Amino acid sequence: MSSVGRRVGIAVLALLAIGVIALMLSGGLSMGLSMRARPPVSGMPPAAGLPQPAAEVLARGAYLALAGNCAGCHTARGGAPYAGGRPIATPFGTVYTSNLTADPETGLGAWSADDFWRAMHEGRSRDGRALTPAFPYTEFTRITRADADAIHAWLRSLPPVRAPNRPNALRFPWNQPLMTELWRLVYFRPASFVPDGARDAAFNRGAYLVEVLGHCGACHTARDSLGGPDGVAFAGAELAQLGWYAPSLLSDSEGAVGRWTPDETIDWLATGINRHAIAAGPMAAVVTGSLQHLERDDLQSMAVYLQSMARPDSGGPRVQGLGRKLVLPSAGDPMLTGGERLYAKHCAECHGERGELAEPGYPPLAGNRLFAMNSPVNAIRAVLHGGFAPATNTKPRPYGMPPFAPQLDDREIAAIVSWLRNTWGQRGTRVEARQVNALRSVPVDDSPGPASQ
Ligand code: HEC
Ligand code: HEC
Ligand code: HEC
Repeated sequence: MSSVGRRVGIAVLALLAIGVIALMLSGGLSMGLSMRARPPVSGMPPAAGLPQPAAEVLARGAYLALAGNCAGCHTARGGAPYAGGRPIATPFGTVYTSNLTADPETGLGAWSADDFWRAMHEGRSRDGRALTPAFPYTEFTRITRADADAIHAWLRSLPPVRAPNRPNALRFPWNQPLMTELWRLVYFRPASFVPDGARDAAFNRGAYLVEVLGHCGACHTARDSLGGPDGVAFAGAELAQLGWYAPSLLSDSEGAVGRWTPDETIDWLATGINRHAIAAGPMAAVVTGSLQHLERDDLQSMAVYLQSMARPDSGGPRVQGLGRKLVLPSAGDPMLTGGERLYAKHCAECHGERGELAEPGYPPLAGNRLFAMNSPVNAIRAVLHGGFAPATNTKPRPYGMPPFAPQLDDREIAAIVSWLRNTWGQRGTRVEARQVNALRSVPVDDSPGPASQ
């Protein structure tokens, strides 16, 4: 949202809040209470002894849960799968994921298929409580009823784990149920997936997997200061809570797949590696937890859809920080010459004097889009913390890049990344030492949570 749009958004929320409080005071209606009291769709837990769902339905549900990476968020570090309790950091505080196992008291054991559908499609819990959008129901809303039912059937087949849900730790006023209701009034409508009749089945399957189940927009679409979608969908977003940048899936100079062949895209989705790029951080977690398990036909459909989103590069220099005074360094800038020297000393042995060295899972630095993105965040992180391509079943032990945080100070790393943004045909704004410093302290976490909600 533009700053005007944001102010309008805040004003709308404030007016709504005042209106609702006035109504509550006048005794006309207690919105919060009526919401709490709303009965579950199913009055009673489903009776025991109902026919078991067919094996194909369970298999389908297990697969769809992988496509939605439910376990990625609903499993705490070291905890039982799907038993919830994982903290999801948002700018408004921490939200804890729920127990999705079949435990009747603390999990979904008492939930009917209708209750589950209402959570996925409408973002409401069984007791009617509006769920926070840290649960990406803003994308899941368009799931088909058959797919929701299959996931529900499969979750109910999981061993019940007793694990009470942790209350969310949101800051005032976001901890008020009313705020979530108001947020939803502004930003959310339950919706259905409508296939595009002018496109083929692969395109539509890809759209469904990318936009709905894969909830790729939860990270790749920017959020405004109230956590609502901001600007063009998939145009890239800073994941401030995680200290990563999810690049634009529209621009070929960022994360779009327009210059990749369909097979290269499929390989990258399946393994996180192709000859151009390696998935890192939260994206590596998406590959490991979700994409590597998908059938090739589905990955092919996703590749078709991602290809259709790609737009050629606009060509201009890479500038970070909209609205800031932008200074592109000149050729003889001492920061750049310093960066060049440091590169020769610390990096050239592995990456080559001209950034040309490459192997599978080890892309060349010359022409690498990490340095062509407006945001330098991911490039800084790669140097600070090093990294591995995601471990997948096909590539359990990828090559590693050593972390330079212990060896190089903030100014040195800023100089190297600034130089890499301005050499071998790239042109971009300088990176400041304070940007490196800010990323030094963020935890090296691969949390799959959309940080910006
Ligand atoms: C990005 C993280 C994330 C992903 C991915 C995710 N969830 Fe959740 N989910 C949450 C959070 C956070 C909550 C709790 C929201 C709240 O308390 O307001 C939640 C709540 C729920 C609830 C409501 C539970 C209750 O007790 O009210 C259901 C049902 C659910 N998720 C199902 C799923 C399914 C099925 C998938 C996969 C298709 C999935 N979730 C994927 C984060 C996630
Ligand atoms: C939890 C946040 C998150 C989710 C969900 C997510 N991404 Fe990403 N994605 C990132 C981040 C961060 C990067 C940058 C790091 C990297 O390049 O791996 C990225 C990078 C990418 C790239 C750029 C590849 C390159 O390096 O050139 C593509 C393509 C991509 N994501 C596709 C997807 C698709 C398709 C989905 C949905 C199935 C998805 N992402 C879901 C966070 C996310
Ligand atoms: C010991 C060998 C080695 C040295 C020294 C080294 N790298 Fe790397 N680097 C790698 C490997 C292997 C990878 C690919 C694995 C990975 O990070 O996922 C990599 C990956 C990278 C990436 C990520 C590329 C991408 O597409 O995601 C960047 C950026 C990078 N290195 C920059 C540097 C810089 C800058 C230096 C010097 C400060 C440096 N490297 C020194 C081995 C090395």
